[in-house]
Amino acid sequence: MSDQAPQNTPNDAVGLPARAAALDLLAAALGGRAGMDEGLSHPALAALDGRDRAFARALVMATLRHLGPIDAALQSRLKKAPPDRVVQILRLGVAQVFLLKTPAHAAVATSVDLVAREKGAQMFKGLVNAVLRGLIREPPELADPDLLAPSWLYARWRAAFGEDEARRIAAVIMQEAATDLSLRDPTRSDALSVELEAHSLPGGTLRTSRRGDLATWPEFAEGAWWVQDASAAIPARLLAVQPGEAALDLCAAPGGKTLQLAAAGADVTAIDRAPARLKRLAENLARTGLAAESVAADAATWPDRRTFDAVLLDAPCSATGTFRRHPDVLWAAKPSDVAGLAAVQSKLLDAAARRTRPGGRLVYCVCSLEPEEGEGQVAAFLARTPGVTLYPIAEGEGGSPPASLRPDGTLRILPHQIEGGTDGFYVARFRQA
Ligand SMILES: C[S@@+](CC[C@H](N)C(=O)[O-])C[C@H]1O[C@@H](n2cnc3c(N)ncnc32)[C@H](O)[C@@H]1O
Repeated sequence: MSDQAPQNTPNDAVGLPARAAALDLLAAALGGRAGMDEGLSHPALAALDGRDRAFARALVMATLRHLGPIDAALQSRLKKAPPDRVVQILRLGVAQVFLLKTPAHAAVATSVDLVAREKGAQMFKGLVNAVLRGLIREPPELADPDLLAPSWLYARWRAAFGEDEARRIAAVIMQEAATDLSLRDPTRSDALSVELEAHSLPGGTLRTSRRGDLATWPEFAEGAWWVQDASAAIPARLLAVQPGEAALDLCAAPGGKTLQLAAAGADVTAIDRAPARLKRLAENLARTGLAAESVAADAATWPDRRTFDAVLLDAPCSATGTFRRHPDVLWAAKPSDVAGLAAVQSKLLDAAARRTRPGGRLVYCVCSLEPEEGEGQVAAFLARTPGVTLYPIAEGEGGSPPASLRPDGTLRILPHQIEGGTDGFYVARFRQA
């Protein structure tokens, strides 16, 4: 989702409907009801024209990218928390004034108008007016790295990675992400770099700062590339599948890693338990002209007796590493999520090991920054699984940032380790005896 406000449009020319839509979208995102990638089709945006839609999205993204400091600024001016919708209106008001540079009078007036539309919230009109005007008089600091992530997650990152790394991780939330592309035919990298105004990253990902509708970009319809974050492209490369090898992608949809394995020539079986997401996988296969057997099943209990040369488990996780593209994940996540997901991951890892043929390779990855889903998960798996050993990853292998390599040969990729940012990932590779 692009963060950019519409070009050449004075923000005070954007009306109340765009702000009302932003309010609904922000409330949905923070309630865990709208991943920002899905936000593109959120019903609140449907009735808006292109300019208003772009403004609403840019406003919500700017708010989410600075939510911690915005809330600290508001708390310093509120004796008692007003109702939730009024808080959201205040957050959007602050973001308009200080981040989107909306003229202060327009931001304040429309915020008060939004409160006026809220049932039973009339008495908060004066409060919203006063709080925003107070902040305009004494502008808050909206880039304090110690406030950028929710305090419970920030404390976890400090404990896991140290004070400096935690700050550098948190600062990435303010960055708008470029678009990363994986290529069906890596030998076309030079030509596609020119066409897509992109540069190549180690491993072969192309990174472009182009914006707008992907479907109109060169060679999208021909299926020459698909969108895939630079870090997300590393795990499948580490399987180094050879043409004709049997590969299993256990949590496959929407299919970025399945496409990589198929493009490398493997015979791929792709499992996912979510039929709607498998539909997207099927669309991606059709567009790229690649093939895979697709199976709707629970990977932990899939009743099939085959084993595979190469198995990939991109497990469901807290996704805290994806906050650069989806800043809402940090604020929608709850401490209890991590333990619940770790239990699911360990069942799926056991299933993945059963599917790996003797001498075969298994790659486990999660787009999470939480050690229970990464380092801890792998230590417990090795301890309970005779025959499976770590197959250490080499420095820089698969395009991995050298700084991400841990002494045991697994990867802890932090979002600031690739210039311009990337998703945080943990990756481990194993061999079956
Ligand atoms: C991190 S996403 C996978 C992304 C995908 N590998 C890609 O590169 O596009 C995790 C996927 O796991 C699926 N999933 C979760 N639990 C599962 C289970 N028990 N069996 C199969 N799929 C599962 C979810 O539906 C989701 O599509």
